[in-house]
Amino acid sequence: MSKGKLITFEGGDGSGKTTQLSRTVAWLKAQGKDVLQTFEPGDTPLGKALRHILLSGEFVPVAQTELLLFLADRAQHVREVIQPALDAGKWVVCDRYSDSTLAYQLAGRKLTDNAELRAMLKWAECGVSPDATIWLDLSVEDAAIRMASRQAGGEAANRLDNEKQDFHQSVYAAFDKIAKENPERVQRINANQDIDAVQADIQRVLSAL
Ligand code: TMP
Repeated sequence: MSKGKLITFEGGDGSGKTTQLSRTVAWLKAQGKDVLQTFEPGDTPLGKALRHILLSGEFVPVAQTELLLFLADRAQHVREVIQPALDAGKWVVCDRYSDSTLAYQLAGRKLTDNAELRAMLKWAECGVSPDATIWLDLSVEDAAIRMASRQAGGEAANRLDNEKQDFHQSVYAAFDKIAKENPERVQRINANQDIDAVQADIQRVLSAL
């Protein structure tokens, strides 16, 4: 059986990630690829409950608990959804993965980025790491403007969207560091362009893979 590919999309809240991911999936399908679109956290029945716990605001987990719940969601997602799809030869396009955990929990929550936590992140991946990652690079200031206009339009913010600016700055700095440390895997896309231009850039880098 041919092995599929895992492509992850990463970026701060408001970077246009979800729109770009859907358009990318449509483009891959139009080329005849067998594609599975998925997301974290929450794309399994168990994950849906974890997503509610993590993001609804009903609970306020301490940083350690928050990390463990995101990792729990990931392990379930890999075993139940991602790995079977890859085994079936599909292209799996996933909205967020371990880079988000590095950025939001280790950097944003200021958990010590040490070998033990890195090993836990790897362990939760159950052996599945991305073949390519699209990072939608948008400054915290520009993302905040977009988020404010979305919320004015009635879109609800999640518990992490509502974190302070310095949390989002740490998240941004972490994504920037991840991109620099993994130049082969992580493709930085300038998200401060119109939707079509961003999509064209994504298609260009994926075509080159
Ligand atoms: P989203 O569905 O709008 O991308 O929201 C998911 C939120 O969860 C977003 O604020 C980022 C956050 N998140 C983490 O903090 N750690 C993680 O490991 C993942 C996958 C997401």
